[in-house]
Amino acid sequence: MKKHKWGILAPGKMSAKFTKGIKLFENAELFAVGSRDRERARKFSEEFGFKKYYGSYEELATDPEVEVIYIASPHSFHREHTLLCLKNGKNVICEKAFAINALEVNEMIAEAKKNDLFLMEALWPPFQPFYRKAREIIDSGVPGKPLQIHGYFSFIPPYDPADRKFNLALGGGSLLDIGIYPVIDALSFLGVPDDIKATASFSPTGSEESISIIFGYTDGRQATLYSSFKTNIGIGCDILCEKGNMTVSRGRDMNQRVILDLHGAGKQEFLFTPPAMGYHWEAEEVMRCLDNGLKESPVVPLSFSLDLIKTLDRIRAAAGIVFPGKD
Ligand SMILES: NC(=O)c1ccc[n+]([C@@H]2O[C@H](COP(=O)([O-])OP(=O)(O)OC[C@H]3O[C@@H](n4cnc5c(N)ncnc54)[C@H](OP(=O)(O)O)[C@@H]3O)[C@@H](O)[C@H]2O)c1
Repeated sequence: MKKHKWGILAPGKMSAKFTKGIKLFENAELFAVGSRDRERARKFSEEFGFKKYYGSYEELATDPEVEVIYIASPHSFHREHTLLCLKNGKNVICEKAFAINALEVNEMIAEAKKNDLFLMEALWPPFQPFYRKAREIIDSGVPGKPLQIHGYFSFIPPYDPADRKFNLALGGGSLLDIGIYPVIDALSFLGVPDDIKATASFSPTGSEESISIIFGYTDGRQATLYSSFKTNIGIGCDILCEKGNMTVSRGRDMNQRVILDLHGAGKQEFLFTPPAMGYHWEAEEVMRCLDNGLKESPVVPLSFSLDLIKTLDRIRAAAGIVFPGKD
């Protein structure tokens, strides 16, 4: 059995969750951690049992033994850190939002192709049982064609102008952090919209803190999407179809639920509680692709990531959200 030597770039909160997922696999080796701060790298490395740790991302990216690197820095650095890893011959899985705009994502994809390396956006939903169940139900034709999606994600974090959620230099704003999920829902179940309308409100730093979005499709289908750091509704998505409705949601505890409510036929409920909050499936997919010589994942193809970032760019243009120095 080939063991894949993993590196973790930027050992923050999300890296801790992802590492717990990697740890579940016998063919994965927790090999090295790179932080801007050597002491932080040491602590993270000891907590999870990595072999090596580094006080810079460059040292991690140039370690000749590291095969694949998981990147979880703030979104505004995803392009820079992905290019650093790819230029040094590393395969990459990088957190969402994949980058700040489509220009950056195109550069990342071109660099992966140039070096013949694997690249994937770390998108959680497509691997989850509730998402696969929803897809299976739609594909069965039982509820009929999806006509409207109402998707939302909001919670109230403490306001901290330096935090990546509010700091424009770190890609702050609810859209790229959590609004991306209802956008993924609409793209997954309805496709790329023909028309986009959006309105946003802003925090004192100038970062967007609430956004309402309407997608229009020329055949009459629609989506209404919402994200915010000012209200607390949690995460959910209603898919309204010709013959009934489906609610797909996950709680804070990551319990995943699909409720199918067919007109006149009563409700059916499906509940899933995956281990490691379901993050391990992304790590498993990366290793499956590496084992099979694939340079991108069929579950999260780079074309989907491009559609996603182009759609996010269109939403930002409609709502007047700008990242100075990037747009
Ligand atoms: N897929 C999901 O479900 C999910 C959930 C949460 C977050 N995320 C994504 O994961 C990424 C990281 O989020 P997080 O919540 O883990 O953030 P976090 O806890 O703030 O960690 C980010 C890490 O990035 C590094 N970093 C590099 N430059 C930085 C800078 N200028 N300011 C602050 N940190 C900097 C820091 O590590 P060092 O300084 O030690 O190098 C820091 O620990 C984001 O892109 C986010 O969208 C994904």
